[in-house]
Amino acid sequence: MKAILGSDHAGISGRKEALRLLEQRGWEVHEIGPEGDPEKADYPDIAHQIAQSVTSNESEMGVLVCGTGQGMAMTANRYPGARAAVITDSFTAEMSRAHNDANIACFGERVVGAAAIGQLLARFLDTPFEEGRHMTRVEKIDQVIGEV
Ligand code: RB5
Repeated sequence: MKAILGSDHAGISGRKEALRLLEQRGWEVHEIGPEGDPEKADYPDIAHQIAQSVTSNESEMGVLVCGTGQGMAMTANRYPGARAAVITDSFTAEMSRAHNDANIACFGERVVGAAAIGQLLARFLDTPFEEGRHMTRVEKIDQVIGEV
């Protein structure tokens, strides 16, 4: 089980929480991002790498941490097949998997705090996709209006 994990400078502590959890659970993790001050990273540079790895099936799952989670998700969701969800609480962690089959979990360290990221990621990982009626809806995500 391969995961790819990245953050910008605003998400380093949360990234380390996520790394601890993933390694505890036996994931092989490829980690990218700055290691500390004053190193900075632009969030799209990190998100592009994670989304490419997930949508090419090189990694089964991606985790992204920045200040809000928003810029990471906006970038990752430009890739067909990427389903990046901004997770703010246990309900969004669960529903983004159960109903949306999210394959990239995005967190805002300045929103939820680094300590919560491990718990929220655990909920995300523990929730299977429900399939059924949700499968058809998920398949429609990559349909672009006007496309034949
Ligand atoms: C960095 O200051 C911040 O803009 C970034 O981490 C993120 O919140 C963007 O979405």
